[in-house]
Amino acid sequence: VKAGEAVDEQIRALCEVLQRDDIIIDAGNANFHDTVRRDAELQDSGLRLIGMGISGGEEGARHGPSIMVGGPESSYKRVEKVLTAIAAKYKGEPCCAWMGNDGAGHFVKMIHNGIEYADMQMIAEIYGIMRDGLGMKAQEISKVFAKWNGGQLKSYLIEITGIVLAAQDGRHALVDKVLDRAGQKGTGKWSVIEAQDLSVAATTMESAVAARILSSMKDERKKAAKAYAIRLAKLKVKSRPAMLKQLEGALYAAKVCAYAQGFAVLSKASAEHQWNLPLATIASIWREGCIIRSQFLDKITVAFAKDSGAPNLLLTSYFRKAMRDNHAALRAMVAEAARGGLAVPALAAALTYFDSYRTANGTANLIQAQRDFFGAHTYERVDKPGVFHGGWS
Ligand code: 6PG
Repeated sequence: VKAGEAVDEQIRALCEVLQRDDIIIDAGNANFHDTVRRDAELQDSGLRLIGMGISGGEEGARHGPSIMVGGPESSYKRVEKVLTAIAAKYKGEPCCAWMGNDGAGHFVKMIHNGIEYADMQMIAEIYGIMRDGLGMKAQEISKVFAKWNGGQLKSYLIEITGIVLAAQDGRHALVDKVLDRAGQKGTGKWSVIEAQDLSVAATTMESAVAARILSSMKDERKKAAKAYAIRLAKLKVKSRPAMLKQLEGALYAAKVCAYAQGFAVLSKASAEHQWNLPLATIASIWREGCIIRSQFLDKITVAFAKDSGAPNLLLTSYFRKAMRDNHAALRAMVAEAARGGLAVPALAAALTYFDSYRTANGTANLIQAQRDFFGAHTYERVDKPGVFHGGWS
């Protein structure tokens, strides 16, 4: 049943025929606020609701998806056997777990999709650098992704990118015939809205959603392309293999930042909604079955299990090393893309997030001074405690 009003209608119809303690499972991409409301509305009837996030697309439907369950734990216990049996398995472990009460399962699925948006956007930007910056053909780029799928980027999305880029339509690559206008059904946008409401910086997801919005403005972009047909510098490429190596490292570093943001949203939401979301478990049930499944998620599982007190993925020991090893590549590629006028919004967002996050002395002192100047918003000082105002004239 499609998320939205149709679910409410279906629940109303089911209420007529179900009995106390029966369980309704909503396995669509519901907005978690609706799940929280529906859970509350069903309380008096004695019916129980499970809001269940499912990921995996058509293949997951046939061979086992990743399942994120929300609702009373006692309800989960009653359906656990069925769900773990149909779930995808990672080395024999079912990719299915109880996330928390009411909307927890749908919230976790929403953030899965937010991360999916960021992942896909960053892959598309790297493809753009190869296509427009290095002048590579789809077939050649396909081979690069296929090769990367044997390394630290190994994942479903990298694998299918290689496959998609290899597909031919007559004498042309099929991907070259696809209109550059991406659709969206809402879960990415919801992730960004929730991140903002929770005061979590989720800039890679934001830029991925914004990129889809800009992609839809094809006619306007064509006009702007004519208005700004400016000659820009060619990418500085000393050796293509070296550049491709840097692109691989850049994508990896950006991916770390995107996942750090996604998990930061989950962590804040967990406290806000008292869900007690199990971060390491979430990473573990995303290792198979779902769209963002990857080897990388196994590293996150281990990192969170090992450094459970770390406030951000970037502060776990494994990913500290990963960022030390790869941030220079991301920096170099974002700089090259900017020089060459290639749009890399999500890669740039990842890099600026990393740089902002690791800056102990930022520039918000000036913002606070401006706020105090024009609006008497007061400020704190670094040299003495208290709240201050004025001193500017
Ligand atoms: C999944 C997918 C699935 C769906 C997305 C696509 O995890 O199986 O994420 O839920 O394909 O909703 O989202 P957009 O249509 O917004 O790209």
